Amino acid sequence: MSATITKQPEQLKRKVTEEDEEEAQHFARVVGAFNYYKTYGYDRVKRAEKNYEKLSEKHKELLPEFLSHLAEIKHCIDHNNEVVKVMIQYTADMFENRESYGLDKGMLRVTGFDMEKVKTTLKQFVRDWSVDGKIERDACYSPIIREIEDLFPVNGISRSSISVLVPGAGLGRLAFEIARKGYISQGNEFSLFMLIASNFVLNRSPSEECFTIFPWLNNFNNLKCLKDQIRGVKFPDVNPSSLPEDSSFSMIAGDFLDVYTSPACWDCVATCYFIDTAHNVIEYIETIFKILKPGGYWINLGPLLYHFENFPDEPSIELSYEVLKQVIAKCGFHMLKEETDVPSSYLQDQTSMMKYEYDCVFFVCQKPVNASNGDSSSRDDEVS
Ligand SMILES: C[S@@+](CC[C@H](N)C(=O)[O-])C[C@H]1O[C@@H](n2cnc3c(N)ncnc32)[C@H](O)[C@@H]1O
Repeated sequence: MSATITKQPEQLKRKVTEEDEEEAQHFARVVGAFNYYKTYGYDRVKRAEKNYEKLSEKHKELLPEFLSHLAEIKHCIDHNNEVVKVMIQYTADMFENRESYGLDKGMLRVTGFDMEKVKTTLKQFVRDWSVDGKIERDACYSPIIREIEDLFPVNGISRSSISVLVPGAGLGRLAFEIARKGYISQGNEFSLFMLIASNFVLNRSPSEECFTIFPWLNNFNNLKCLKDQIRGVKFPDVNPSSLPEDSSFSMIAGDFLDVYTSPACWDCVATCYFIDTAHNVIEYIETIFKILKPGGYWINLGPLLYHFENFPDEPSIELSYEVLKQVIAKCGFHMLKEETDVPSSYLQDQTSMMKYEYDCVFFVCQKPVNASNGDSSSRDDEVS
């Protein structure tokens, strides 16, 4: 079974508007950024070559492998570029409704920020769909999946009536694994970089480990040895089309806050490394509360690295975990389980001399069974 990427029905109904035009331009820019990958990578290598040329002959002699290593990097960039080109090829049939997307608008100006997103997307293949990513998935996704199975310990047919939403699904592995356990699972994602890549891996992988990428080429720092930089990673480690035919797995494109407005629809919302992507995390909490059925659960694992903190022109409310917890309670949730200092990493090169580790929070909250939908007024209700 495959996952179709769907836009929310409200968008399907609208006529082409200024907003659609902007969306089309954004799409063209994202495709442009993927197309620019090779030039971007080669420019970095050229800089290294130029710097090498400026060295004295004596110093050059001390670095016999320098240029051949750069040549290998270029070779790997070429390979990544081939994968990216295939990925882009499939954007045309990505959305069920794509008339508003301007694929033929030509390449718009690509920014350094766009290129960071391209590099991040390639690394996300490692986290979500490779053997190398198992360390991160075991730390982040496994506790969430275990918790879902504990909360909904039903088997076979009854699992297929339990619905789980994964907002900010990235390349979809957590949502895929939840579907593999037999639950109704929906991933939601708004980044076109991620959506293009998830469409590719979920719907265009003929077999396990059929693709190779070189995700660490742009890391010139903290290398223990040269081959760490040019090591390939095979993906996907499982065949995404191996889901049983009767599985219910979908990916929905769009902003979480815009797409999910209907109250009391979900048995469970699972957020992983997501809540800190909000401009205002309170809006996320209120929306999760609203869309959960009474008695439904919110499971969260992640840090609080507020994404908009360093964007002076963007609103950003940064709450400590202590304050966040108070807000969660005031919004009506009952905290059932809580662990702090849960170690995990995100897009970490395991061979690097520099490693980031987050002390994440993991919690499970319940919307009271007698809560009225969509408001926070029932915060004193008892959980039963
Ligand atoms: C830090 S990543 C985590 C991805 C994935 N959950 C994981 O653990 O690998 C956060 C994801 O949320 C997505 N995202 C951010 N804001 C969003 C929003 N308002 N609606 C939907 N997705 C969003 C981003 O595009 C990104 O893919």
